[in-house]
Amino acid sequence: MHEGFILWFTGLSGSGKSTLSEGLLAEFRRRGYRSELLDGDVVRTHLSKGLGFSKEDRDTNIRRIGFVADLLARNGVIAIAAAISPYSDIRNEVRRNTDRFVEVYTECPLETLIERDVKGLYKKALAGEIQNFTGVSDPYEAPEAPEVRGRTDQESAEESTQKILDYLSQKGLIDGR
Ligand code: ADX
Repeated sequence: MHEGFILWFTGLSGSGKSTLSEGLLAEFRRRGYRSELLDGDVVRTHLSKGLGFSKEDRDTNIRRIGFVADLLARNGVIAIAAAISPYSDIRNEVRRNTDRFVEVYTECPLETLIERDVKGLYKKALAGEIQNFTGVSDPYEAPEAPEVRGRTDQESAEESTQKILDYLSQKGLIDGR
């Protein structure tokens, strides 16, 4: 059986976490690995239902995702997490509490995200209709040394995905092909 690990995506809303993680989930399964995805938007509809966006609530959300991801990883599953996870101390806490942790930073300038505004949330945040919006009126602490950095404004999803797969096979976490 293969060893599991946590593939942890962090980045601003709209920076590509869900797109890349959904693509990788399908690719891992295609290759015969057991894999699961814990997406912030989805987790917030059940496991973290009722939590808001204060630092305390975000930390609780991230700790829950980290807890479940670790359970999965310990059982040979590739656990993918995709949440903004804006605070480096909590990301590092999850890292310390698990055996194999791979952090992927989906990096994209705020101006580009505001221009794209896929969910229309930046417009609302800038207008003051949503409080504590990450990057606009709430902090985002970028990782200093992520294992993989995807410049999602410059690279295609395929290029960023390939970078991640290359890193994982170099480290022997997946078979190279
Ligand atoms: S986290 O900070 O706790 O990691 P998470 O990834 O679960 O956040 O949820 C972020 C998603 O919630 C965003 O993509 C967006 O759709 C939505 N959202 C609603 N309000 C906010 C807010 N104030 N800040 C950030 N995202 C928000």
